[in-house]
Amino acid sequence: MWTDIGRHSDREIRAGSAAARQWIRREFRAGRYIAFVAEREGIGIVGSGAIWLRPSQPYPGLRPRPEAPYILSMYTRPEARGMGVATGLVRQMIRWARREKYRRITLHASAQGASVYRALGFEASNEMRLSLTRGGSPGTTAKSARRARRGPRR
Ligand SMILES: CC(C)(COP(=O)(O)OP(=O)(O)OC[C@H]1O[C@@H](n2cnc3c(N)ncnc32)[C@H](O)[C@@H]1OP(=O)(O)O)[C@@H](O)C(=O)NCCC(=O)NCCS
Repeated sequence: MWTDIGRHSDREIRAGSAAARQWIRREFRAGRYIAFVAEREGIGIVGSGAIWLRPSQPYPGLRPRPEAPYILSMYTRPEARGMGVATGLVRQMIRWARREKYRRITLHASAQGASVYRALGFEASNEMRLSLTRGGSPGTTAKSARRARRGPRR
């Protein structure tokens, strides 16, 4: 999945792989990582994905559960793409989350995944972020950083 998304080098992916496997195993055993697989007769597994029940703070309107479903690790084998495999998996995940009485599912979409989720009714949320590795610092916006580089106005 990470190779196809193309945001990380092979070295970074390899280096993170052992930790990822360890983390998945731990969350799986704890019942917080629910894996979904799609199988085609005669071929085997063609796609997979997971719901991770990640910790969440309680807030008004949500039932007081300490976790919230988050979709991750969506992958379809290249030869099976464009045939509704991921769409089918996400539909099953939505069904599962509804049955478990969760009120919301969140995810971060890759460029390839966005249209799949959009078609199923996912919408962009109000999440914001600040990169702390690209010269940003708390309280620094792109505009204030440009102003700081230019120096004070005369
Ligand atoms: C993103 C990814 C999981 C999508 O998997 P997929 O199984 O090809 O997805 P689907 O087939 O359900 O949907 C893909 C497209 O096929 C279309 N489609 C859905 N059902 C279809 C069907 N029965 N027949 C034909 N096309 C169909 C969808 O509308 C979608 O079209 P669009 O994206 O051009 O708008 C896959 O491309 C992938 O593994 N990418 C690399 C890893 C990645 O980016 N993972 C996502 C992380 S968020």
